[in-house]
Parts: sequence; structure tokens; C-alpha cells
Amino acid sequence: MESTKLKLLLFLIILCCFQFFSVSSFEYQVGGDEGWVVPPANDSKIYNEWASENRFQVGDTIRFEYKKDSVMEVTVQEYNNCNSTRPSFFSNTGNTVFRFDHQGPFYFISGVSGHCEKGQRMIIKVMAPEESDADTSKSSGSPAADSSLGVSKLVFVQFVLRFLSILIC
Ligand SMILES: *[C@@H]1O[C@H](CO)[C@@H](O)[C@H](O)[C@H]1NC(C)=O
Ligand SMILES: *[C@@H]1O[C@H](CO)[C@@H](O)[C@H](O)[C@H]1NC(C)=O
Repeated sequence: MESTKLKLLLFLIILCCFQFFSVSSFEYQVGGDEGWVVPPANDSKIYNEWASENRFQVGDTIRFEYKKDSVMEVTVQEYNNCNSTRPSFFSNTGNTVFRFDHQGPFYFISGVSGHCEKGQRMIIKVMAPEESDADTSKSSGSPAADSSLGVSKLVFVQFVLRFLSILIC
């Protein structure tokens, strides 16, 4: 009985280790505590100011929280005209997580009539994958760095496991 519990614990800890190392993406919260709302009239550029202060990368996500509103991803023309007739992405669940699956600009607007015009819209520029990845694909010399990273991860996991087994036994 006792050993089953320990095995379960061990399994969970190993799982945590792997998650810790595999998660390199980041989730951004749009609008902080206020969430995704019509910005105040004297601060209508609030979303684009916020967006320009962050470095978004492929694989990152953003979370929109809102009430009685919606999120749309649209083209640049639709963004400029607040045209919500044909969004490529639409959600009105109140809690929307959007993942950036490629680099380049993403255009978001509120789908509620009049909100986009009042400034509830945002451009997010997603950067190319991390520089280290770009280097690997460019030069043939660097894959060594990649595999050494893999080894150090493995060593760390082994270390944790050994430490745990000492604790348990
Ligand atoms: C906008 O107006 C509010 C009051 O209506 C004020 O508290 C706030 O500081 C103003 N923000 C800016 C950026 O001027
Ligand atoms: C809105 O966008 C759609 C599709 O992109 C287009 O057909 C339509 O003419 C646009 N409407 C306005 C008012 O610009």
C-alpha cells in the first residue's frame, strides 16, 4: 500500500520535471485586472501600448477575460475599418485563450457594435522563433549546443530522482 503511494508520488514529481522543462511558452493576460473592455476615452490606445511593450513569440498565448463582449481576429483592413462581418476567429465565451501559431501581426477587435471604434482593438506582432532556434537552422555547427542542453536536462532529472530515492529509502 505504502509503496504504491510512493510510486504515485514519484510519478507525479517526474511529470512535473518534464513539464517544467518542456514549457517555454508564455501566457499574457490582456488588459490586466480590467480585462478586455472598452478603454477609457482619454486612454483609447491602451491595448496597443501594452502590446508594444511585450515580446510575443510563436507558441505564446493571450487570455482575454470579458463580460458581454467578444474577441475577433480579423485582417488589417477589417481592423482599420472595425469590420466584424468575417472574422477568421471568433469567441464570446468570456474567457478566451488564443495561441499564436505563426509569426507576424495579429489583429484583434471586439465584435460588439461600437466597441472597436472606441478603441477596443489591438495589434500584436509575434516575433520569429527564439534566436537560439534560428541559429541552429542557420549554422551547422550549433546542434552540439542543443544536445548538451538535452543532456543537462537529463542529468537534472536523474539528480532529482536520486535525491528522492534517498529521501524515500
Ligand atoms: C483619464 O481620466 C480619469 C478620470 O476620468 C483619470 O483618473 C485618469 O488619470 C485619466 N487618464 C489619463 C491617461 O489621462
Ligand atoms: C467587411 O469585410 C467584408 C469581408 O472582408 C467585406 O466583404 C465587406 O465589404 C466589408 N464591409 C465594409 C463596410 O467595409
